[in-house]
Amino acid sequence: MNCSEDFGPFHGKTWINCSHQGALPRVAAEAALEAVSWKQSPYNLTSKRFTDVPARLRSALSKLLGAPSEEIALANSASYGLHLLANGIPLREGDEVLLVRGDFPSVVLPWLGLERRGITVRHLDSPLGADELANTISSRTRVLCTTWVHSFTGVALDLDAIGALCRERGVWFIVNGAQAVGARPIDVTSTPIDALVSVGFKWLCGPYGTGFCWMRPALQDRLELNQVYWLTMQTADDLGTEEALPTLRHDLGASAYDIFGTANFFNFMPWTASAEYLLDKGIDNIAAHDAVLVDRLIEGLDTRGYHVLSPRSGSKRSTLVLASHKDRSRNEAVHRALREQDVEIAYRRGNLRFSPHVYNTTDDIDRALQTLAP
Ligand SMILES: Cc1ncc(COP(=O)(O)O)c(C=O)c1O
Repeated sequence: MNCSEDFGPFHGKTWINCSHQGALPRVAAEAALEAVSWKQSPYNLTSKRFTDVPARLRSALSKLLGAPSEEIALANSASYGLHLLANGIPLREGDEVLLVRGDFPSVVLPWLGLERRGITVRHLDSPLGADELANTISSRTRVLCTTWVHSFTGVALDLDAIGALCRERGVWFIVNGAQAVGARPIDVTSTPIDALVSVGFKWLCGPYGTGFCWMRPALQDRLELNQVYWLTMQTADDLGTEEALPTLRHDLGASAYDIFGTANFFNFMPWTASAEYLLDKGIDNIAAHDAVLVDRLIEGLDTRGYHVLSPRSGSKRSTLVLASHKDRSRNEAVHRALREQDVEIAYRRGNLRFSPHVYNTTDDIDRALQTLAP
């Protein structure tokens, strides 16, 4: 698979930093331009398009996740969905929420405010394993919220084992897929999780300010959230009819909790095009392509005497490769030197983080490796 022509221009730079921002495919850039043209000539912003734009995005996401469209809330971030859940799951004084120490801040912060209401937030050691978890869950535990692929270790969690345990013990299992969705296939209906949030701007190759929250109907039924957006309950055309009290709809599932301004043309049109592009390539094929790049990268890092810190193989391995110069104090300088030579990776928590995706080629990996200081 060589998709590099479908992306860019990269202006001679090598972008191996999808865990920060995925590149936007050309088809998505065209969709963004179309959105701009609609706004330049606003008679194009028809009531039908206000409905169709979010519907098409939801349909693409539903195919990516294997979930019915109405189980998906459209969002602008991972944080949006995490806040829906942290504020909406009925939790009482004495209840306990489990998080993972060192997790990405957007996963941790939404729960911390609950401590004011007497809810305990416990931070478990990373990486989270089903065995340790089995000994940790107590009769007070209501929620486990964690990231699927860890931003700073590259470890991919075993959702099946952890989820099965949570389900058996009656704990809601909330997963942040920001570093996984778009790079790893998932079918949420056959994976024992209760909610999956993600950003759209990393492995889903959408614009910044995009995300979603899928939730299982059993969880959505339990949410206690007072959040009602008028354009979710009715259409702009309804404003033309005789005045009547707006009414609540109860048939919308999770989509009732869409981010306000849901027909976000500038962001959602290109994101839909990106998601449809990835679907067309096939997430399985993309995962296989990314795995080839990761293999080559790990082999080259070994050859150059770098330490590979993220899992090297097996189901725990992800598309995030964390590595270190044998003298860890040199990592920042190595990162700077790569950037000076037009190779872009991330420097995170003292380590080097490579994250290749669909638009990268083996040449990109070789170029990064050749540029690495000995
Ligand atoms: C694991 C993880 N979760 C979430 C985010 C971003 O979250 P949000 O969309 O809420 O800003 C990132 C990176 O930006 C991340 O690496």
